[in-house]
Amino acid sequence: MKIMISGKGGSGKSTLSVLLAKALVKANCEVLLVDADESNMGVRRLLGAADSDNLMENMGGRQSVKTELWSETASQTDNELFKSGMKIADLPDGCVAEADGVKLLVVGKIQNFGDGCACLIGALSKTVLSKLDEGDNAMVIIDAEAGVEHFGRKVDSVCDLIIGVVDPTYESFMLSVKMQEMAAMAGIEIVFVLNKTDEAVTEVMAEHLDSDKVIAQIPFHKDIFSQSLHGKALSTNLPEVEKLGHFLKRYRKPVNLNVA
Ligand SMILES: Nc1ncnc2c1ncn2[C@@H]1O[C@H](COP(=O)(O)OP(=O)(O)OP(=O)(O)O)[C@@H](O)[C@H]1O
Ligand SMILES: [Mg+2]
Repeated sequence: MKIMISGKGGSGKSTLSVLLAKALVKANCEVLLVDADESNMGVRRLLGAADSDNLMENMGGRQSVKTELWSETASQTDNELFKSGMKIADLPDGCVAEADGVKLLVVGKIQNFGDGCACLIGALSKTVLSKLDEGDNAMVIIDAEAGVEHFGRKVDSVCDLIIGVVDPTYESFMLSVKMQEMAAMAGIEIVFVLNKTDEAVTEVMAEHLDSDKVIAQIPFHKDIFSQSLHGKALSTNLPEVEKLGHFLKRYRKPVNLNVA
């Protein structure tokens, strides 16, 4: 199953992605964590994974990725990565780092002044995810960039589920409405995780969100905040996220979603 983790900047997408990936490993799933955020560098650090190539570099940089994607569109590619049914084990060796049983793939980063826009990284993410067959027991967790650009690029169309991370800000509530609309257009199920909540805040959040769609509530955890502040890997397991992992392991995609 491929799960897109989406939401406002700073809402907790990367934190949830890493903690959820680790919780799913504990629940005996094979887990691939995909860092699809072209800007922030934090996921590798939060996971505590060693350095590895990002996929774009490994493929020879922007120009060769452009050429490969063009050949893929024209059905003229020999690249194993772009063959339908490609497996996690087929990802190039140098691109996959591993920590706590979680495999990490970083798609690409804007690194230099004048590197160009992030569309190419989005297109590469979408193509590779669309070809990847993770199998029945594997979970692919995709940490998206902030906001709704990935919806615009239709990366979500190759996912089975979207988790919207909602933090206690009005902007986040408004974005959750937008995400729900866009998910409906894509015909993909969306659910929400309330992050950094407490009882009083949850009451306010409940006024803005469809309660049937809220699958977890995660309080503000000082340890998590502190590990992140000091640039450390996240070493605290959260019971709320472990419970979420078990829920997702049992989750099956609804068959009758209406595409608007
Ligand atoms: N449940 C939590 N308890 C305490 N702090 C949290 C929690 N979730 C996230 N944070 C903190 O919130 C900040 C933003 O988290 P994170 O980087 O995961 O957000 P993000 O949505 O990935 O941000 P970006 O859009 O910049 O990629 C970090 O300081 C992180 O430690
Ligand atoms: Mg992030």
